[in-house]
Formats: sequence, structure tokens, C-alpha cells
Amino acid sequence: MELKICVLPGDGIGPEVVREGIKVLQAISKKYGHKLILEEALIGGAALDKEADPLPEDTVFKCKDSQAVLLGAVGGPKWDNLPRNLRPESGLLGIRKKLDLFANIRPVKLLPALQQASVLRQDIVAKGIDLVVIRELTSGIYFGEPKGIFEEKGEKIGLNTMRYTEKEVQRVARLAFETALRRKKKVTSVDKANVLEVSQLWRDVVCEVAKEYPEVELEHLYVDNAAMQLVARPYSFDVIVTSNLFGDILSDEAGVITGSLGTLPSASLNEQKLGLYEPIHGSAPDIAGKDIANPIATILSVAMLLEYSFGLKEEANAIEQAVEKTLGFGYRTLDIFREGQKKVTCSQMGDFIAMQV
Ligand code: NAD
Ligand code: IPM
Ligand code: MN
Repeated sequence: MELKICVLPGDGIGPEVVREGIKVLQAISKKYGHKLILEEALIGGAALDKEADPLPEDTVFKCKDSQAVLLGAVGGPKWDNLPRNLRPESGLLGIRKKLDLFANIRPVKLLPALQQASVLRQDIVAKGIDLVVIRELTSGIYFGEPKGIFEEKGEKIGLNTMRYTEKEVQRVARLAFETALRRKKKVTSVDKANVLEVSQLWRDVVCEVAKEYPEVELEHLYVDNAAMQLVARPYSFDVIVTSNLFGDILSDEAGVITGSLGTLPSASLNEQKLGLYEPIHGSAPDIAGKDIANPIATILSVAMLLEYSFGLKEEANAIEQAVEKTLGFGYRTLDIFREGQKKVTCSQMGDFIAMQV
């Protein structure tokens, strides 16, 4: 099969982890006889430095011209003081919006080899963690208008608008119920309906959509409680569906209960199922350029890419197994390293995983 993929390394550890993702993708393609066509493009700070634009037109074109997109991460202190529309993060938000990637799927699975790396008590972790956060990605407070910093009655005010339409909630809710049907048949919808009107609409629409899926159990949690329950009883969740900002926060929290942010992948999909795949973590400026980042999140994002964009389930499984085998041998990057294990660099971890596929 021919696999045409646009690669956006981005900033900080982005290029480091993407290099390892590509290494594993090449190993898989060789093993299963696929032809890789990789097209690299600029995004974020890297694009700003070269083209004074965090999302050049050429990048959007190359993404649309591909069957899938693999992204590292964007951002860093170098660009933090630029006007908002020129920040690297605007490039990422821009490509999500331009491709209409409304559903961000963030699986949170505790790998058996990483049980000890969890920050939670071992008796809680022992019950297993296997959930998926489905985060609405192209609306909510990230995109709502009006927004800005204005002068009002002689002082500055900052303003953002949390806004959802019925249709926006419906499509992401439907995807959550469809996902639950293939899993443990439970959906937890997270909102702040006790305070926010936008959350009341969210909850009403989720309840309507739920009627189409009588076999799926529906639970509602307020986001403050959800943040607590996620560490108290992570084993009890199946599919969590929530808005853009709440999903961003809860998925980082979920990241650390399974060991490290450096292990969690994601897929962002549109209605045509064109997908952008990226680790949930950022550009980690504190460890960039040292070859110590954990590439597993990106490598597992490659697995999601093969499964979701190309239907290559066997290849995706082969990558997941290669990751588990490598961890089983005791190889660890710094973020998940414990006494008695074998400390490896980012590129060595990529080498070992590529060797196991
Ligand atoms: P971050 O996710 O970059 O880092 C948070 C912490 O986790 C840091 O201590 C970092 O060292 C660690 N970490 C992250 N990924 C790791 C990995 N693969 N291996 C080992 N450790 C890892 O979040 P931040 O520090 O809040 O943000 C840094 C920059 O990244 C900011 O500019 C932010 O806007 C950007 N960011 C981008 C994305 C993205 O591109 N999707 C996501 C989050 C943050
Ligand atoms: C993420 C990041 C982004 C977000 C930022 C960098 C725009 O935190 O992908 O989780 O908030 O969506
Ligand atoms: Mn985030």
C-alpha cells in the first residue's frame, strides 16, 4: 500500500521524537511491504523563523494533499512574547481548524511494564487503566468570539468566549458513543453545567444523542469532580467526552497516571477521517536538544495513524507490541526510569522499538 504522509516536526523535542516515529514507520513499512511517501513541512516556531508565519500556506496545502499528518510539537520561550496570531501555538490551532479536526482522541492505557511508573497508589493502578478521552478540538473557548484584550472604562480587560453549537456537540458526542460501543459501553460526559450555560447545552445535547445508544451507560460529571475521580478511580472510566479546554487539562492529568506524558498518543480526526496524529505533550523546552525525551507517545501516534487513516490494524498492533517488548526488556528514557532499569536516550529507544517490529 502507498502511504502518503505529511510530517510536521515543529519545535523543541518535536523533531527529536518525530525522527523516532519515522524510524519505526520505516521499519513497519519495510516489514509489511508498504511504500512510504513522506513530505516534510514547517509549522510553529520553525515556520516563524523561516517564513515569518506559524502556518505557511504551503504547509496547509501539503497536509491537505496527504492521507495523514504526523506532528511533533510546537512552541517555546523564544516565541512566547510575540503577538498571539504569530505564536507557534496559533499555527497548531490553525491547522486543526483548517482541517476541521473536531475530534481529538486520546487513549490512556496503562502499559503493564509501566505500572511502577504511575504516580498513583499501586492498589489503584493494579485495577487497570484503559480509557479514552475524546476532546472537542475546533470550538469552545479556544475559538469562541468575541475575544481579545480591550480597554474598557480606563482599564484593560481580557476576554474569551466559551461557545458551542448544538451540531458541534452532537458530532463529538456521537463519536464518543460509537467508540464506547466498540469498548466497555460507558460514556462519561464532563462539563460544568452547574454554572455555565454552554455546559447546560452540552449536557442537554449529550442526553439527546444518548437516546440513540440505549446499550451505552451515560454518566455526567462536573469537571472539578472529574479531575478528582480520574485519580481516585481511573479504572472505572471507559470513554470520556468533553469540551476543548476541559479535555486539554484532563488528558495531561491522565498522562501522568499511566506513567509519563511522554507515552500518550493522540489522533485528531475530521468528518472525512483525514487525521493528524501527535503526542499529547508539548515541545518540552526544558529537555529539548539533549536526546533524552521519551519518543513512545509519538511512536504510538504512528500506530494510531496506521490504524485510523489506513486501516492497518495489524501494523498498528505490531508497533504497540514492539513498545511493550522494549519496555519489558527494561529500557527506559529518563522520565520513566527507575533504579535497576536500563537508561536509554530518545534515539536508542527508537532504535530498540524499530528493531522489535
Ligand atoms: P510540555 O508538555 O512541553 O512539558 C511538560 C513537562 O513534561 C515538562 O517537564 C517536559 O519536560 C515533560 N515532557 C513532555 N513531553 C515529554 C517527553 N516526550 N519525554 C519526557 N518528558 C516530557 O508542556 P509545557 O512545558 O507546558 O509547554 C512547553 C511548550 O510546548 C509551550 O510553548 C506550549 O505552548 C507547547 N505545547 C505544545 C503542544 C503541542 O504542540 N501539541 C502541547 C502542549 C504544549
Ligand atoms: C495540546 C496543547 C495545545 C492545546 C496548545 C499548544 C495549543 O496543549 O495539544 O494539548 O491547548 O490544545
Ligand atoms: Mn495540552
